[in-house]
Amino acid sequence: MLFRKKPIASEANESGALKRALGAFDLTTLGVGAIIGTGIFVLTGVAAAKYAGPGLVLSFLLAGTICAFAALCYSEFASTIPASGSAYTYSYTAFGEVIAWILGWDLILEYGFASAAVASGWSGYFQTLLSGFGLELPHALTSAFNPEKGTYFDITAAVITLIITFLLTRGVKEAARANGIMVAIKIIVVLIFIGVGVFYVQPANWHPFLPFGFSGVTAGAATVFFAYIGFDAVSTAAEEVKRPQRDLPIGIIASLAVCTVLYIVVSLILTGIVPYNMLNVSDPVAFAFEFVQLNGLSWIVSLGAITGITTVLLVMMYGQTRLLYSMSRDGLLSPVFSKVSGKSQTPAIGSWVAGAIVALFSGFISLGHLAELTNIGTLFAFAVVSLGIIVLRKNNPDLKRGFRVPLVPLIPILSALGCFYLMTRLAALTWITFFGWLIIGLVIYFVYGRNHSHLNPLRRK
Ligand code: ALA
Repeated sequence: MLFRKKPIASEANESGALKRALGAFDLTTLGVGAIIGTGIFVLTGVAAAKYAGPGLVLSFLLAGTICAFAALCYSEFASTIPASGSAYTYSYTAFGEVIAWILGWDLILEYGFASAAVASGWSGYFQTLLSGFGLELPHALTSAFNPEKGTYFDITAAVITLIITFLLTRGVKEAARANGIMVAIKIIVVLIFIGVGVFYVQPANWHPFLPFGFSGVTAGAATVFFAYIGFDAVSTAAEEVKRPQRDLPIGIIASLAVCTVLYIVVSLILTGIVPYNMLNVSDPVAFAFEFVQLNGLSWIVSLGAITGITTVLLVMMYGQTRLLYSMSRDGLLSPVFSKVSGKSQTPAIGSWVAGAIVALFSGFISLGHLAELTNIGTLFAFAVVSLGIIVLRKNNPDLKRGFRVPLVPLIPILSALGCFYLMTRLAALTWITFFGWLIIGLVIYFVYGRNHSHLNPLRRK
């Protein structure tokens, strides 16, 4: 009974409550919107200064390759089981209920902490911009809870989270439209950085290329992995896509490809302009322009970063609400999360509950912690999804697949091994918190979800 599986056909029957409004282009925009954000604009600096040095580009290559394998697996699942809920739903059909619950609970952690981390990165850039105008917030409200430094709550991070929640409850097409404009601005800013920055590269800054050796490159990869997270969020939109079997794989693979190319070029240019050991700042990309006295452009980059990070928040929080929607629709979480309301046809009450919790996290917990927790949760999900492809091929070989992963089982195995390897490069505290989270999740499952599951024949209605 723990491993009761959801029949694949039931997914199609249940869809229809959400409006089908998105096409391949919307999805690619959604993907790029979800991917380029705090990772490239903030975490690259720490990764270069503390771990990888100019070898940062290798960290991006390593993390990007692992993500590419995982993206292929996500694409096959998304084109086979185009239902809201992404990896959670896939494992419900491949592995059964208890694994699906673990994965769903893990994804709540991924999207929740990713949203909070991204809001925290947003807050950093926003405060830099404010101080440019001579405006300062009260010190206690500028950063996460850290009494030693006199900070208690990051108010800007919490407020932006609530604003995005409001936007999402207005309807998915409207949110996608606002997202499209912001994604365009973000890509233009990244291209400006590349186009102008390339003329300020000093190749001497690339020596020594690996100041911390190869282990620095892998630790850097475990950090900048954060920068790639988001393509998986595309698949959470499955039930709002017009032609999911064609459009989902395009959306997932195209958005990851665009971002990988941009990241590789940006990391080369960044470490070429600024000596790596000076990059540990909260706004490294803007700082690089300041470093070569391009102050006007630095300001534009900051503004673009804020816009770009906003779109990541939009997609991550969107993913979160749709995941909760699916889990609740299956009876594993309270029905509040699947109550679709009003003209906008969105799960508004659930969105506000999730938004409030994320706002609290983003206010109290530091960016570094939030990012590591996001990474461990996401790597775990990627590994399970990859192995799920092998299981699904074996158990349901005849299913109609819009997209097939090449070289199965090699690619899924490489993907899972790569993810586990990057997990081993994260801190012990991150592992402990992660296990704590999973244990709480299992308790909730045995107390609530197992009895209320719609697959439970004795369920109380
Ligand atoms: N990839 C997203 C970012 O870097 C989560 O902000």
